[in-house]
Amino acid sequence: MDSQTVNQKNTPKKHPSGDKRFKILDATMKRHQYQQDALIEVLHKAQELFGYLENDLLHYIAQSLKLTPSRVYGVATFYHLFSLAPKGAHTCVVCTGTACYVKGAENLLATVEKCAKIHVGETTPDSELSLLTARCLGACGIAPAVVFDGTVCGHQTPDLVTEQIEGWLKHGSS
Ligand code: FES
Repeated sequence: MDSQTVNQKNTPKKHPSGDKRFKILDATMKRHQYQQDALIEVLHKAQELFGYLENDLLHYIAQSLKLTPSRVYGVATFYHLFSLAPKGAHTCVVCTGTACYVKGAENLLATVEKCAKIHVGETTPDSELSLLTARCLGACGIAPAVVFDGTVCGHQTPDLVTEQIEGWLKHGSS
């Protein structure tokens, strides 16, 4: 049995969604050899990739590092720098990684802030929309990218994000 076969035993299954962000997260955990004491680094990376740490993501990390979900949840809630699932009915995560930044992410973010009248990390008073940022979604080829309710959308423009945000806000108030 070669060493690769032995290592595979410790390697958790890939995330079935096919979302590239999980691939990057997997690579981070692998780099730390799935060590449990790398949890904070892994949570950092997850937040960087997804913008916030929702339950499914915490469970995935727990499973991968062979930790109990309560342990992972405990650490994620203890540190203020981690944000758990946003409060809004809808979520907009603007990627501010280098590739997206170069292609106008800052302008997209300003557009969403203006349109929804909130800042990053906030939720609209009617709880319709939460706005977050992430650093590289693993979708640099389609930069600038924005995640609307979990769906990564590429080649975004101020007009496109305005349309999406206004649609949500209008729908919510009608
Ligand atoms: S920098 Fe935005 S997807 Fe990579």
